[in-house]
Amino acid sequence: MAKYGLETARCRLRPPRPDDLDEWASKLFADPDVMRYMPKRVMTPRENAERALRSSDQSWSTRNHGGWAILDQSDGQIIGRCGLEYLEATDEVELGYGLARAVWGKGIATEVVRACVRFGFESASLKTIVAVVVPENIASWRVLEHVGFVFEKTAVYYDLDVIYYSIIAEQFQYGDSFYRARLLDE
Ligand SMILES: CC(C)(COP(=O)(O)OP(=O)(O)OC[C@H]1O[C@@H](n2cnc3c(N)ncnc32)[C@H](O)[C@@H]1OP(=O)(O)O)[C@@H](O)C(=O)NCCC(=O)NCCS
Repeated sequence: MAKYGLETARCRLRPPRPDDLDEWASKLFADPDVMRYMPKRVMTPRENAERALRSSDQSWSTRNHGGWAILDQSDGQIIGRCGLEYLEATDEVELGYGLARAVWGKGIATEVVRACVRFGFESASLKTIVAVVVPENIASWRVLEHVGFVFEKTAVYYDLDVIYYSIIAEQFQYGDSFYRARLLDE
């Protein structure tokens, strides 16, 4: 299936590649602050990054959505990952995201999440997008609520007690910041 890249005011999102794995491993999966509320997997940071790449590739190869590496527009550095993939053991499309500790607290997650959701509704024709967050991850659920996700229920996914959020197109808050989706030729 076709792959897409996205642009926001400060970030560029493109499907991940094998040469991103070292940076994903060191900036995300090896950082205990980034991993604090994420599923606990018995994997090295590198294996975790490889798993994330495989999952993204699998989604893009069968669906019109998948994962992205998040790059800083100003210097091209990788600062995170996000994606619209599948919630475990369901056919529900789950929004996931994680940013390097160095860029937290600047509204970047809100900007990127808004772009992913917009892509999901406008380009991938999704009807509903879900997200699961552990209750202690306040920054994460604030991001979700900023873009219009609503609380559905508490649940257990990935062996974690989570809050399950969802959003439909009518609830989405577009915001007024720059956004562009681009069909890639790869
Ligand atoms: C969650 C995460 C993506 C947020 O990224 P970010 O770019 O810092 O988020 P934003 O700046 O867009 O917004 C964060 C919001 O949470 C608030 N916040 C941040 N830390 C907080 C805390 N400890 N307590 C309360 N609120 C907090 C911010 O004030 C902001 O809300 P506001 O806009 O109403 O002021 C980032 O912390 C991260 O990558 N965490 C590790 C991976 C992760 O947990 N991913 C999500 C899994 S569901």
